Amino acid sequence: MSSIWRETTAIAPRNALEGDIEAEAAVIGGGLAGVLTAYFLRERGVETVLLEADRLGSGQTGNTTAKVTSQHGLLYHKLIGELGEEGAGQYARANQRAITAYRDLIGEKCIDCQWEERPAYLYTSMEQELLQEEAHGAWRLGIDAKFTTDTELPFPVKGAVQFEGQAQFHPLKFLEHIARELVVYEGTRAVKVEGDTILTDRGRVKARHIVFATHFPFMNAPGYYFLRLHQERSYVLALEHAQPLNGMYLGVDEGGLSLRTSGALLLLGGGGHRTGENSAGGRYDLLRQAAQTYWPQARETAHWSAQDCMPLDGVPYIGRFSPSAPNWYVATGFQKWGMTSSMVAASILCGLITGREDPDARVFGPHRLRLAASAKSLWTDGGKTVKSLARSAFVPAGAALDELPPGHGGIVDYNGVKTGVYRDGEGQVHTVSVRCPHLGCQLEWNPDEKSWDCPCHGSRFDYTGALLDGPAQENLKGSSG
Ligand code: FES
Repeated sequence: MSSIWRETTAIAPRNALEGDIEAEAAVIGGGLAGVLTAYFLRERGVETVLLEADRLGSGQTGNTTAKVTSQHGLLYHKLIGELGEEGAGQYARANQRAITAYRDLIGEKCIDCQWEERPAYLYTSMEQELLQEEAHGAWRLGIDAKFTTDTELPFPVKGAVQFEGQAQFHPLKFLEHIARELVVYEGTRAVKVEGDTILTDRGRVKARHIVFATHFPFMNAPGYYFLRLHQERSYVLALEHAQPLNGMYLGVDEGGLSLRTSGALLLLGGGGHRTGENSAGGRYDLLRQAAQTYWPQARETAHWSAQDCMPLDGVPYIGRFSPSAPNWYVATGFQKWGMTSSMVAASILCGLITGREDPDARVFGPHRLRLAASAKSLWTDGGKTVKSLARSAFVPAGAALDELPPGHGGIVDYNGVKTGVYRDGEGQVHTVSVRCPHLGCQLEWNPDEKSWDCPCHGSRFDYTGALLDGPAQENLKGSSG
């Protein structure tokens, strides 16, 4: 099922690239970060083309809950401790400015995208102390933040951090409007970049500046972003007949919920996990149980899921791609905050390309080394990769094919070979290789999405083996070899 944003937006199709072209700047990726970057570059007179492998807005921009906020979980108290007030202040200012930039652009262009300014809340049902520290940290950095025990939620909370002046909108209506005058090639997959040339499946694009806005960078080197990112999934229900909320909410406790209203619908999010670690499934059912408990009269009208890139130290990577490729730029690692981070990224990258560097960009520099803040994630991510590679090589299949009931998938022994199998409702069997084409980790079955997901860096494939999410760039082979 697709998101309410996709169901309510028609984006006019664009032609695919035909042959070779040149431009001053080329942006790879037609999500919000790519489209905004191309938009601002064009506004500043830089001749820009945008390349999208599928359709504009077909990636994570259409799967978000579309909160535009500088409130990114329990962040500011921690950032002050790790980076001092200067570094944490750069992060806060850049994100607060992103909200203003949206407001100004939407007002100036009269964009009909359901822009609504709302307070944002982090809530807890456990301990107040962390939220009190967070409210104080954010306030020290100039955000209109306070601790409160007063919320409109239908369950008791111990406290909440309230940020004033935040917003929500319809992400694809916004994207559709600002993309109208851009030069866009859809159905054009970038497969490699060499120097100033992008090699696509439809021709070559030569550009002085090349921006990677592909959610997860597809080039392994230089940059080595796959060593510094993992991906996580989360799930959303749209509910009608649920009590509307004025604010936007996020629970900070284990299993905390994300909530916001969109028109007559309540969007209820949660059930997050690392990509490739949902073999038991049931994530939508967890949300359905919460809906039944707190809004028993509500009815589900849509459900969908999102995939987020998580950086090692909790700060996105925005800036020059690599010291060895000074004219390549990157925007990735937005965590759960893709809407606000897209605007931050577009502003920073446009400034870098046009020679107006933003002093607040330093905190996002992709080549920072914050060992203390990164050590735990580095250890965890490295361990997951080693374990998955070992499983791929040494652990035998768990079951035989005839043990798999209709509607289920799993790794089975198929003709003596470890194989990913999905048996559909009609009993037809679909087999794929369970070796991830990115770097060879063993894929895991995700019963909620009927997909094969990689626990190492988060590539995903549907049950036929078709690529859904990178960094992998190719489909799965038909069966294990
Ligand atoms: Fe890197 Fe699968 S995504 S090995």
